[in-house]
This record gives sequence, structure tokens and C-alpha cells, in this order.
Amino acid sequence: MRFYLVTIFPEVVEALDFSILKLARERGLLEIIPVNPRDFTNDRHRTVDDEPYGGGAGMVMKPEPLVAAIGEVRSRDPEVRVFLLSPRGGTFTQSMAQELASGPPVALVCGRYEGIDERVRDYVDGEISLGDFVMAGGELAAMVIVETVARLVPGVLGSRESLEEESFSRGLLEYPQYTRPPVFQGLEVPEVLRSGNHQEIARWRRYQQIKVTWERRPDLLAKADLAQEDRDLLVMVVRGKDPWKRP
Ligand SMILES: C[S@@+](CC[C@H](N)C(=O)[O-])C[C@H]1O[C@@H](n2cnc3c(N)ncnc32)[C@H](O)[C@@H]1O
Repeated sequence: MRFYLVTIFPEVVEALDFSILKLARERGLLEIIPVNPRDFTNDRHRTVDDEPYGGGAGMVMKPEPLVAAIGEVRSRDPEVRVFLLSPRGGTFTQSMAQELASGPPVALVCGRYEGIDERVRDYVDGEISLGDFVMAGGELAAMVIVETVARLVPGVLGSRESLEEESFSRGLLEYPQYTRPPVFQGLEVPEVLRSGNHQEIARWRRYQQIKVTWERRPDLLAKADLAQEDRDLLVMVVRGKDPWKRP
């Protein structure tokens, strides 16, 4: 998977060199290429911003260096999909990450200051937001997107199974996870997980996924594709019936 980060802070790419990202880059599964809009300026100060037309606070990123940087990416990689990072974009989700991971190279354009000249939008394929909040720049959003997408690229994580069962992968949140010790400060690992009965463990985990999603994100549950067995478990959840709960 190849990413281009269009940013006036190309050093963020060096920061993306730890844990699975480092391994993925070493194995050639992930490539992150910085493209600095300042390299496409012609003045002594390498200016990328200017005052907003109509007045107002702050500076706006000029179109020429950004569009030239995007053009450079497109000429290197004609297949590339270019996204602007912006609070006005569609919210980044796991399904968007899955789609990006199985597609062509991605370029993420990081804004700074008060934002980007509106005309740059004509040169990109879409806009992505990380959520309903405003950051000082797009670089941290780009880092989040790169890490989320990279772990979905085949070969980056050891076990594909862990991806299939985790939160959002099938429309539900993940079930609770435990590791040793069996009792921590009086808090016990559920008995079923120590039973060795894999069928029962799978049923408990599905029940827990439905329960956690029902309690915390009923909006997800409404959209989830539930089998009849899941619906039966949901009825149990709603009625407060937990067959694994100790009396
Ligand atoms: C200070 S923000 C500009 C915010 C802009 N004035 C507005 O109100 O929408 C500077 C840059 O940070 C990035 N940014 C800020 N919040 C973001 C978010 N929630 N998702 C993605 N990028 C964001 C964008 O690239 C944006 O151009």
C-alpha cells in the first residue's frame, strides 16, 4: 500500500516508523512518501499561505503550491486517489479504511492555518474528516488514517482472524477480552472462557458483542446484518437474560 502525504511538515513520515508500521515498511508492504508544497513555490520564503479575501482571522493555504504538489503525485502515480483532510469531509470509518486498504495508492492532503483555498477542492477526489472537532492541521489525521488502513493490508498483521472479530468489522463492537491472571484484585475472568468449550466460548462472545453494542451503540445494531441466532441473543440481552452470569 502506498501513501503520499502532502504536507508542509514532511517529518511526520519519520514519526510513522514504529510498531506494525515500521515492520510493514521494512517488509515492503507499506510505503509513505512525503510531498512538500513548499517545494513547489518560487519565492525566497517558500510561501504557502496568504491573507483571506474578504478579511478575517488567520491565513489560508494558497492554491498554487498545493495543486502543483497534487499534480506531482498524480504524475508519479496516475491511479492515486487524492483526499483532502477537512472537518467538512465525510467521517472516516472502518468500512472506509477497508475500502482504502483494498484500492489504489492514496494521497492525503494536510491543511494548516485557517484551511485551504476552496479551489483546491477541484483537484481532489474527496474529503475526509476524522470527526466533529477541529485540529490545528491535517497531519495527525493523516497519521490516524495511515495506521488504520495499513493494519488492514494483507500481511501487515499476523492473524486475519483478529481483524474479522474486532470492533466494526461486522457491524458490532468487540466482545470483552481477558488475559492472565484469572483473578485480578477480586475481579474474575468469566468462567466460560476458561472452560475449553470453544462452541460455548463463541456463543458467549457473540452474546457479549450484541450486549456491548446494544448498551453503547444501538445505532450500529440497527444497521447490523444479524442472523436468526444473533436475533435470539439480542432478545436475551434486551430481556436482561444472561445464561453465563453466576447467581
Ligand atoms: C485549523 S484547521 C481549519 C479549520 C477550518 N477553518 C474549518 O473551520 O473547517 C486546519 C486544517 O486541519 C485539518 N483538520 C482539522 N480538523 C480536522 C478534522 N476533524 N478532520 C480532518 N482534518 C482536520 C484540515 O486539513 C484543515 O485544513
